[in-house]
Amino acid sequence: MDEAWGRLVPTLARAFGALDAEATVLDSGAGSGVGTRRLAGATRASVIAVEPSVTMRSALLARVVGVPALTDRVSVIAGAAPAVLRQLGSLVDGALDGFVCAHVLGHLGEADRAATLAALAGGLAPGGRGVITLPPPSDAGPGAPGPDDGWEILEERVIGRHRYVSRRAVDGATGRMVSTYEMWEGERLVRGQEERSGWSLPPLEEFIRELDRAGLAVEEVIAGAAIVRRR
Ligand SMILES: C[S@@+](CC[C@H](N)C(=O)[O-])C[C@H]1O[C@@H](n2cnc3c(N)ncnc32)[C@H](O)[C@@H]1O
Repeated sequence: MDEAWGRLVPTLARAFGALDAEATVLDSGAGSGVGTRRLAGATRASVIAVEPSVTMRSALLARVVGVPALTDRVSVIAGAAPAVLRQLGSLVDGALDGFVCAHVLGHLGEADRAATLAALAGGLAPGGRGVITLPPPSDAGPGAPGPDDGWEILEERVIGRHRYVSRRAVDGATGRMVSTYEMWEGERLVRGQEERSGWSLPPLEEFIRELDRAGLAVEEVIAGAAIVRRR
């Protein structure tokens, strides 16, 4: 995942690199904070990281804490889109200077996706920009959205005597995304947790039309992500 985010850094820098410390960028569906950390590195703006899962928020806070450049600027909020975005006014002083919605929209049904995109568009200040990861082009072949040919290791860390491994794969039978979080001691699996979530996005061309209907115009596409502006 960090590698995928590495590819997005130029996009983030282009969209948000010119913002100053008074600006605010929303990270909608921030997950464990791998991207939030990259986002904060690409801009001087404050970051509001919204994430519904308590497990992900714990990892997100663990990533932020102890890094002064992050604790000074990153605020973590509990909530799920689109509902949480209706409170944008109380989260942000004024309108958003930017937002990131990366690897999230496939978890939402069509109606929630449309409402989320409309709320993000409506929350943007004039001149503000968003970064949204895109489905792959329809000629990319079947299974292109996910790692369908085995487990993809998202992160592996040794802390003390334990090795923590996070992986994901697509269950071929159901098409659902499977994520596992494991803690190993030597060759012994001490603890493991598995989470399954749906993932579905329309083909790229239809997705771009959805952005348009929500009031978002694509300004540029870099590394599988669109920089968007309010129409
Ligand atoms: C694949 S992760 C991506 C996390 C992060 N944006 C990144 O790119 O690393 C998807 C995240 O979306 C979150 N999510 C799922 N439904 C959501 C919703 N309705 N609103 C906001 N976030 C949501 C999940 O909890 C999960 O943390």
